[in-house]
Amino acid sequence: MKITFFSTQPYDKQFFIEHNKHFHYELEFFEMPLNAQTVSLVQDATVICVFVNDKVDAAILAQLKEKGVEIIALRCAGFNNVDLQAADSLAIQVCRVPAYSPEAVAEHAMAMILTLNRKVHKAYNRVREQNFSLQGLMGFDLYGKTVGVIGTGKIGKALCRILLGFGCNVLGFDLFVDRELEAAGVQYLPLIELLQQADIISLHSPLNDQTRHMINSQTLKLMKKGVMIINTSRGALIDTRAVIEALKTCQVGYLGIDVYEQEEKLFFHDHSEDIIEDDIIQRLMGFPNVLVTAHQAFFTREAMDEIAETTLHNIHAILAGEAAELPGKLV
Ligand code: NAI
Repeated sequence: MKITFFSTQPYDKQFFIEHNKHFHYELEFFEMPLNAQTVSLVQDATVICVFVNDKVDAAILAQLKEKGVEIIALRCAGFNNVDLQAADSLAIQVCRVPAYSPEAVAEHAMAMILTLNRKVHKAYNRVREQNFSLQGLMGFDLYGKTVGVIGTGKIGKALCRILLGFGCNVLGFDLFVDRELEAAGVQYLPLIELLQQADIISLHSPLNDQTRHMINSQTLKLMKKGVMIINTSRGALIDTRAVIEALKTCQVGYLGIDVYEQEEKLFFHDHSEDIIEDDIIQRLMGFPNVLVTAHQAFFTREAMDEIAETTLHNIHAILAGEAAELPGKLV
């Protein structure tokens, strides 16, 4: 039974080969992403294993079906890049890794907050050049600040716990109230009120039709002047052009993004020798108060172990007809 991987990085190979010692599947690794051009590479595979920026739309699913593919195994939590309806109608089963390490992502969000606030990235470079001046490095106490967490699922909840530990006032917005968080001190508010009150806003809801561009020119106007916005969820939660305008007027005081609307053309690859054609990311990176990381929030040893083990377990369970209770089963 062959599993063909797309968008493979060396670390994917390392972890999947190690965990496959208990499963004994045939693994085939392609570095390129899955898209209309690369789908023709699939030969004799029962399972296709994809990541966040692989394109799994209706046309590609139809071609995979013709090639005999039975399962799409996402080795990530988000699944906005898969047409689930089309998969269902083609009887292709889809699974994901719903929770590999919410803490990994929450801790990265916190690292972004702390870095932007205390300017650790600038201090590091400055000191290496024997510049020991503090001019321009002033931050603010996180203790007592109000932080709005949008989406209090697994990752948002982990961040709320961290923020409570720092002594922040934590506001939450979600379609569902988490009673445990409420008891721990998180105050749930309507979205507009959260946006108006928060000094820092961190996004942890999935990308879907309701959440696409939830941070836009209208919602940006509601926020406190100088607000910090953190996005470790999916790039398209933010209208990037609108946030650039808000950075120019200082309405947004800090922006930390681990995800970006057009990231599939850039992230996970070394472009240090290339001319970047994307003017929007170049503009963003030109701001001194913007921190960009390349979708690395998930990237811890513990998370990689869990991703490889759960993905292979999902595939095993589906093939064995035991998927009814599988938490990662989508279709
Ligand atoms: P989850 O499913 O546990 O939580 C998502 C929460 O968002 C749920 O509580 C849900 O009710 C809420 N939600 C749904 N629609 C909403 C709306 N319109 N407004 C407000 N809240 C809404 O998911 P989890 O594991 O916490 O992951 C969240 C997102 O983080 C994923 O969808 C994925 O896109 C992203 N992610 C990013 C990673 C990275 O490396 N940067 C790694 C893993 C996930």
